[in-house]
Amino acid sequence: MHSTQATSQTTVSCIQVGLAERSYPIYIGRQLYQQLPDLLPNLPRQICIVTNATVAAHYLGAIRAQLPAEAQLLVHEIADGEHAKSLSTYGEVMDTLIHANFNRDCAILALGGGVVGDLAGLVAATYQRGVDFYQLPTTLLAQVDSSVGGKTAINHPGGKNLIGAFYQPKAVVISTDCLSTLEARDFACGLAEIVKYGIIYDGDFFTWLEDNHSQLAARDEQALAYAIRRSCEIKAEIVAQDEREQGLRALLNLGHTFGHAIEAEYYDSWRHGEAVAAGTVIAAHFMQQAGELHSTDVERIERLLSSFELPTLAPQLSETLWQQRMQRDKKVQAGRLRLVLPTRIGAAELRTVTDWPAVWAAICRVTESSQ
Ligand SMILES: NC(=O)c1ccc[n+]([C@@H]2O[C@H](COP(=O)([O-])OP(=O)(O)OC[C@H]3O[C@@H](n4cnc5c(N)ncnc54)[C@H](O)[C@@H]3O)[C@@H](O)[C@H]2O)c1
Ligand SMILES: [Zn+2]
Repeated sequence: MHSTQATSQTTVSCIQVGLAERSYPIYIGRQLYQQLPDLLPNLPRQICIVTNATVAAHYLGAIRAQLPAEAQLLVHEIADGEHAKSLSTYGEVMDTLIHANFNRDCAILALGGGVVGDLAGLVAATYQRGVDFYQLPTTLLAQVDSSVGGKTAINHPGGKNLIGAFYQPKAVVISTDCLSTLEARDFACGLAEIVKYGIIYDGDFFTWLEDNHSQLAARDEQALAYAIRRSCEIKAEIVAQDEREQGLRALLNLGHTFGHAIEAEYYDSWRHGEAVAAGTVIAAHFMQQAGELHSTDVERIERLLSSFELPTLAPQLSETLWQQRMQRDKKVQAGRLRLVLPTRIGAAELRTVTDWPAVWAAICRVTESSQ
């Protein structure tokens, strides 16, 4: 569901995530931190903002100025980077809340990218068995993907996102002007997830992305606002139908089984969205080899990702490492790979794949040195 409302300052789009008594709004617009009292009128007296120093330097002041003067405000800054999604950081935020005597009526606000949102969400899900949670995503990836849908998690040395919970926020506030300070590579990573929605769910949106690729790459505000809105609508529709990933929601993992293998081996040089982009191209080639995806569709996918300066080739990795890493995917059942595979631009399926040589052939076609 999508509506627009005029607050005291600017127009705000609102998308509702329909989950019965846990339904919540996603607000999208410019300069929304200046409008927090209108958008979040029911914030409690005790508020803890979880953020990091990079984000705080840009946006914390604006938010602080909008919170009620009588609020008891805590700000907990975590380290910048994926390594902060850890048990020790989780414990430190818990210590902060407990030492400040925060009670069950408090609220946690996540101000940052997916790292801050995933960690703060798990804190909110578990502090005193669950307190109110609000997402204020500041990266493109967090605005179109991680802040919506209620997946929260931290990592363990044994693997990514191994400790987590499904816990929906009370609201998501997407202030699109935040994106102006984002580094180019982080911005491109968000575009990779936007392209994913077009491939798995909405061929017309994919065509729109092709037609508007240069405006998007130049961070044109109007084009970005539409792309974010459409992505959130799609994610909200999918989550409303399949909150706990029994079926449809798994399609959001297009390219991710391959991508996670790349990320695991090249965590210091490849980012999530970049690995997903290369993984998406492998999935497309796999289907082209099987005669189930037209070569023009494969070319369109490669062209759109390249136009956002995302990689369309995977790095060198041995066959054994690919196999080992892909076997750790959460979708593996009884030792059998399950892959999200595009059948055309606008539709994909989750399939059990037992023909490893065919998977390996697709990987080889898309690997750097084999070109
Ligand atoms: N929960 C979910 O459904 C879900 C979905 C996708 C990804 N994720 C998780 O999200 C994480 C990746 O998120 P991410 O890509 O946002 O990474 P991130 O949170 O590390 O942010 C990327 C970088 O951008 C900086 N940053 C954030 N906002 C900024 C701004 N407005 N201006 C300047 N710099 C800014 C951050 O400090 C960081 O250095 C991963 O841990 C991944 O597992 C979760
Ligand atoms: Zn992703």
